[in-house]
Amino acid sequence: MILTYKRFINKDFQQEYKNNFIKDFIGTRNHFFCFSVREGIYSIITLLKLTGSDIVLMPAFCPQGLNMPFKNKRIKIITYKCNQFLEPDIKDITTLIKEFKPKVFILIHYFGVDYADDSLLKILRHNKIILIEDCVHGFMSTYENGEYLGSKGDISFYSFSKVLPVPDGALFILNNYDVSSNINISKKNFYNQIAFVLHLLYLKLKRVTINYNSQYLNIFEKLIYFFYYKFLCYNKSTTSISKYSNERLAFFNYQKIRNARIDNLKFYHNILGSSFINHKINKNSVLTGYPIISTNKKKIWGFLNKNNVEVLSYNKYWFFPEYFEKEKFKEEYFIYNNHFCLPLNENIKPDQINKIIDLLIKFNN
Ligand SMILES: Cc1ncc(COP(=O)(O)O)c(C=O)c1O
Repeated sequence: MILTYKRFINKDFQQEYKNNFIKDFIGTRNHFFCFSVREGIYSIITLLKLTGSDIVLMPAFCPQGLNMPFKNKRIKIITYKCNQFLEPDIKDITTLIKEFKPKVFILIHYFGVDYADDSLLKILRHNKIILIEDCVHGFMSTYENGEYLGSKGDISFYSFSKVLPVPDGALFILNNYDVSSNINISKKNFYNQIAFVLHLLYLKLKRVTINYNSQYLNIFEKLIYFFYYKFLCYNKSTTSISKYSNERLAFFNYQKIRNARIDNLKFYHNILGSSFINHKINKNSVLTGYPIISTNKKKIWGFLNKNNVEVLSYNKYWFFPEYFEKEKFKEEYFIYNNHFCLPLNENIKPDQINKIIDLLIKFNN
């Protein structure tokens, strides 16, 4: 049993009251907390006064929770290309900006890997396009210069439930907007309550996951997850983070978690660097999992799972839009089909990573 922990989370990481990390992280910036990212986006749509005549540029390889609020509000989405490292294709973006004059550009820091090419920022600024950074996988991650991920955008958002064992919680940072009058956060309603209870149940039942959102589930867990997503998607407004998550978030030892994840990333990278999605990895990234590419994904996945190693892949609740052209988006489509993430959270020790790597070597032989 390599990764079978019965505990909710390692006690070491919950010893002290560490709320200061989140306070320091936010600093003096405008911000709001809410239940989920998809709900928070409705407030952003209102804040930016987006209407059906506005265009949002976003990558083709995209989670439902990001795409859906814009679709529900009938805001037009145009998708841009990324390269084989999931970095935005500047040439494609320049052409799309000329043709569609978008109001908003969304950048996803996939897996928590930083993307910080200044030429993209210059183009967006020059064309007065609002930059929204999706840092859902990268709370606590940094750019190469040490600044926290999300400090370049006009708006950035983070999801706690994707990176910590809490059932809900998202944070929106508004670098260039005032939050006081425009964000309307209501109390949790019936649908949130059910989503909250289901996710909590899932977290309690699950042994250990790599980012607390593992998708290798038994039938019972699958059912929980199915209904969780049904209820999570129901609201078309922003509701508050639960008291439970708010309290738990105050107790994590973020510095320790961060350091453990950075060390684990380095450990993997020294051995598996060549199969990593992006070779130019910033070694201080705090990732949700160690993403690698293999055309043999299904078999490796099964093999690792048989040996009690849980892997994660972003394609279950991620999709390509209906009008997606396979030829145009072939790099992302390849990653969509062939990536998976190895566990690297703070519960995993170097000797366990060694065992995982040994398993991969055994598989290849
Ligand atoms: C990169 C990314 N952005 C946004 C979302 C939506 O977040 P939430 O589930 O909190 O609505 C997700 C969820 O899968 C995601 O992975």
